[in-house]
Amino acid sequence: MNVLVSLVFQLLLEIWRRIIKENPRCSYQAIEKIADYYRSGAGKQQTLAENRQAFYKYKIRPRCLRNVENVDLSTTILGEKISMPIGIAPTAMQKMAHPLGECANARAAQELGTIFTLSTLSTSSIEEVAEAAPQAIKWYQLYIYKDRNITRDLVIRAEKAGFKALVLTVDAPVFGLRLEDLRNKFTLPSHLRLANFQGIKSGMNTERDHESGLNNYVTSLFDSSINWEDLKWLKSITKLPIVLKGILTAEDALLGVQAGVAAIQVSNHGARQIDGTVAAIDALSEIVKAVGDKIEVYMDGGVTDGVDILKAVALGARMVFIGRPALWGLTHSGQAGVEQILNILKKELITCMAIAGFSNIKEIDRNLVVHENYYSKL
Ligand code: GLV
Repeated sequence: MNVLVSLVFQLLLEIWRRIIKENPRCSYQAIEKIADYYRSGAGKQQTLAENRQAFYKYKIRPRCLRNVENVDLSTTILGEKISMPIGIAPTAMQKMAHPLGECANARAAQELGTIFTLSTLSTSSIEEVAEAAPQAIKWYQLYIYKDRNITRDLVIRAEKAGFKALVLTVDAPVFGLRLEDLRNKFTLPSHLRLANFQGIKSGMNTERDHESGLNNYVTSLFDSSINWEDLKWLKSITKLPIVLKGILTAEDALLGVQAGVAAIQVSNHGARQIDGTVAAIDALSEIVKAVGDKIEVYMDGGVTDGVDILKAVALGARMVFIGRPALWGLTHSGQAGVEQILNILKKELITCMAIAGFSNIKEIDRNLVVHENYYSKL
């Protein structure tokens, strides 16, 4: 078992105790609902498992005798210099994990010199996060609301607060069938609020029979009619680069290029949308092949260690984002916990790169990795 997996195991054991300690107002039942919300995927959760397992199908062809004394992970993303190709994906309602929620997570990214993506469904406001982590490279994840003024207001606030990109989530016209959340009638604990929507009645804290409060929120407020025309509207109201998150096909990636987006984030939303979609790492190659050098391509989903990151980079991801691992670190010990997770991944990536014969992340290429079928055909 690698170091990260065993650490995550320890973190999970500790998760219950910490949430109880940090959130004294949460009952044990409420804590179970939170843990289910964070860890579960849609439906029978096949894709949740495959996001991780699919990495095993790719084999590394290490090269030798190439002077790897100094390994350099630094790169540029949308023109910004960052220390390593490992960033933090948007995940919702982080004060359920730790009282400092998104602010602590953003500070960890700042400390490590990488990107933090703030979710629309955050429990810390855009301005609070900007103030807590002024030097972090911050991106803002966006959903399109039926009331376009809500979305416009979020965009203006993110721009004003110094966020550097908008990450438009396009895989969630409606939310997936998350059976655990339905069973638990998942709601945001009553002492927490969606921080960017003071004054808007969200229904997120309201428990109803056989329903998830989150699903009710999404169904009542998000616009399921959004289409490529809405991207034109979004572009017309902002100068920030747009990252399309949730793309799994070459067709949609090419439509994104035509629409003038700055980057594609290959993702199946942490397997939380449709069970049975392709694993994110498996979708990466067709998208990288389709868009070529026209725009940057990133990925998230199922990444648990440095080997996964090395494989994703070799398959064409310029940046790899982690969602749940950062949440586990946050739950364990706030900013320090997220930093520990990022540092473990960084160290593992450096070690794996050196053994694979690469001293510069920018030099890793497609030849480093083959699909396992390669060896049976020789
Ligand atoms: C939010 O984006 C979620 O997947 O719950």
